[in-house]
Amino acid sequence: EETAKSGYDHYMLKEIHEQPRALRKCLRGRVDELTGSVEVESLAGLDPESVQFVACGTSYHAALFGARLLRESGVHAQAFLASEYATAPPPISDGGLVVGVTQSGETADTLAALREARRRGVETLAMTNVVGSTAARECDRTLFIRAGPEIGVAATKTFSSQVVAANLLAGVVASGDDAREIVEALRDLPGQVQAILDDTRAAKVAETYVDSEGYFFVGRGHHYPVALEGALKMKEITYKHAEGFPAGELKHGPLALVTDETPVFAVVTGDGPEATKTVGNVKEVEARDAPVVAVTDGASDAGRFADAVLEIPETHPRVAPVLANVQLQLVAYHVAKRLGRSIDKPRNLAKSVTVE
Ligand code: AGP
Repeated sequence: EETAKSGYDHYMLKEIHEQPRALRKCLRGRVDELTGSVEVESLAGLDPESVQFVACGTSYHAALFGARLLRESGVHAQAFLASEYATAPPPISDGGLVVGVTQSGETADTLAALREARRRGVETLAMTNVVGSTAARECDRTLFIRAGPEIGVAATKTFSSQVVAANLLAGVVASGDDAREIVEALRDLPGQVQAILDDTRAAKVAETYVDSEGYFFVGRGHHYPVALEGALKMKEITYKHAEGFPAGELKHGPLALVTDETPVFAVVTGDGPEATKTVGNVKEVEARDAPVVAVTDGASDAGRFADAVLEIPETHPRVAPVLANVQLQLVAYHVAKRLGRSIDKPRNLAKSVTVE
């Protein structure tokens, strides 16, 4: 087992470090930098009228991101928690597509939602890591994320690969004016992830805040799923209370929980209106004495109001969530390590949830 960890203390850390390679594999042969076109053989001819994503846990966060990308390009798209989808199957038009996002391809709730779609005669697509999985076998189409085996219960590299795969799907069904910039950003992404891994301050931040009462994560737009994912990773492996919110929701309740004992991780990139609003939220929590950790590319002045900064390189907004999330993966890992948790096999959790 030690050999399989290649010198890393945990599979989770090994898998975090495998991300540059995994992302290169996800992209290989699928994008043309010159034209900005995306070509995935298994998606040939795909032109859905509307798209419903179904998924659980981390994969649901990638699904939320994917639905947003499609909506940005004018495609009617929504993401559903697979366990809720079946309770009232949402209507879908003829020519619709249901996308199951599932690392394992074996998650019972996601399979049930995909089967419900097939029962209604809707085309299905499995976005999965596992060739030969049930989802891959049962769906009409597959989009393999090619992340390689993930042993740690906490999904890390597969989330990053799902976000990239969501970009590929969006590139196929709804390519926009900035297609070339997106493809260039995807090309640069593995190197940028490596740069973070080589020079992150996440361990230092974890050390500073390891004794905190709880952790909050906020993000807006493309970074809303990252806020959810940052919190899920933190609670899953540290057993500490953590919650993620869309930054704009803070004032609608969660702000009451914010104290000097609850660091708030704010993901802010660019200097557009979304960033300005999130910086406004950062000021609000700072005024309540909460420690603020800005995960930022430095384009806005979020860092000025923060107690600590986790830097990420500048890139296209559709790609930035991967970079921000790598920093949050590392913070969760180091907090869990300091607390002596069972990082690769957290209590009560299984890698693949095969019962509904
Ligand atoms: C993430 O760290 C969890 N292990 C969990 O939320 C997971 O993403 C979820 O169970 C879905 O699994 P899947 O991607 O294999 O369908």
